[in-house]
Amino acid sequence: MTSYELRLQRAATAAAPAVAPTAPRSRPATDYAIVAGAWAVAVVTAAVFPLDDPRVAQVALFVHLVSMAIGFGAVIVIDIYGLLWLAGRRSLAELVDLDTAAHTVIAIGVGGLLASGIALQPELTTPLARFKMLLVLVLMLNGLAAQRFLVGMRTTLPAGTSGASIPWAAFQRGLTAALVSQASWWGAIAIGFITNAARHS
Ligand code: HEM
Repeated sequence: MTSYELRLQRAATAAAPAVAPTAPRSRPATDYAIVAGAWAVAVVTAAVFPLDDPRVAQVALFVHLVSMAIGFGAVIVIDIYGLLWLAGRRSLAELVDLDTAAHTVIAIGVGGLLASGIALQPELTTPLARFKMLLVLVLMLNGLAAQRFLVGMRTTLPAGTSGASIPWAAFQRGLTAALVSQASWWGAIAIGFITNAARHS
């Protein structure tokens, strides 16, 4: 390669964005409203139209568990990947690529949990059931906020950012998002099993 070609290549590399630009997200507040609205519809429907058919409840429990496996499975992978990124073992670009793929899978899982949860007749007058609904709202909003946070970082930080090169504020935010995610998912799962055990003992 001649020195001229070399200079051209260096100039092209310098001019290239550090990370692939993503499509601008034009409706920041709308996504939160949609998520909170879907949660509210599920809770109100469960409270106002209690489905009282054991066969429907049986199928719903199956759908509930399958949806949990889909949603929580993808969440565990992305949270572990996020922790590996904080530890410097994965790059920002790798994390964002995985999150982009996992986001739809998580949305399908959570959608299935909401829909099937309605048919499971939650007793929304009990503090435990109310607390579970709160955890479900937290895990949904936290998941959306974490995804937005990653997309935002991808447009401002170099693709190879990881570990010690992560700005301190971003490090704290990423760690908090992973901890809130795990706490709210495990809390909802634990309350689900407690409810099931109490009903069938
Ligand atoms: C991320 C969200 C959720 C997770 C991780 C989750 C998880 C679980 C789990 C693990 C069970 C126990 C199933 C079993 O023992 O076989 C369960 C049961 C249950 N869930 Fe959920 N759930 C979620 C959302 C919801 C929602 C939104 C509702 C209501 C609208 C709901 C209502 C119920 C009810 C009523 C039961 C008891 C079913 C029975 O005993 O027949 N869940 N859930």
